[in-house]
Amino acid sequence: MKSLTKVFFALLLAVTIAFGGFQGHANARSLTDVGGVATETQSNPLLGTWLNELGSKLSIESVSEDGNVKGFYETAVSSAGCAKGKFPLVGRTNLPSIGFVVSWTNSESRCSSVTAWSGQLQGDQLVTTWLLTSQTVPSNNWRSTYVNKDTFTRSS
Ligand code: BTN
Repeated sequence: MKSLTKVFFALLLAVTIAFGGFQGHANARSLTDVGGVATETQSNPLLGTWLNELGSKLSIESVSEDGNVKGFYETAVSSAGCAKGKFPLVGRTNLPSIGFVVSWTNSESRCSSVTAWSGQLQGDQLVTTWLLTSQTVPSNNWRSTYVNKDTFTRSS
């Protein structure tokens, strides 16, 4: 190996060790100015925008240190088109696992239904199973709740 190449690889190794390896979006650590003090913060890998196989959009806007999740959901499909616009979501995470719930009522829609997703982060995908319960009269309770799966892929 030429000595210039050796120097390049030595430098690359040194930089990699100094910065703790290569890190993608997921768990990027950064130095943040907290009240004039440089503090190391770690961004949560759930944060961001995710799309599922139906074209629905899941936006996770905050994840607190103790695991509270907040964001918005826009569904690409709904019963008789009842769910239009954005719906708040709340959830809990214990990485890599996450659960979150959407109530399908907002200023422009009222479906009288809720969906709860439970899943886990696997690589760059959020693999979930959901339950959707809609209002029924008691004699129709047998058909009140659908169960299926959604896989979300990061879009930003
Ligand atoms: C309703 O039809 O009562 C409300 C909308 C439900 C949309 C469901 S939730 C599970 C599945 N995943 C989606 O992204 N949309 C559907």
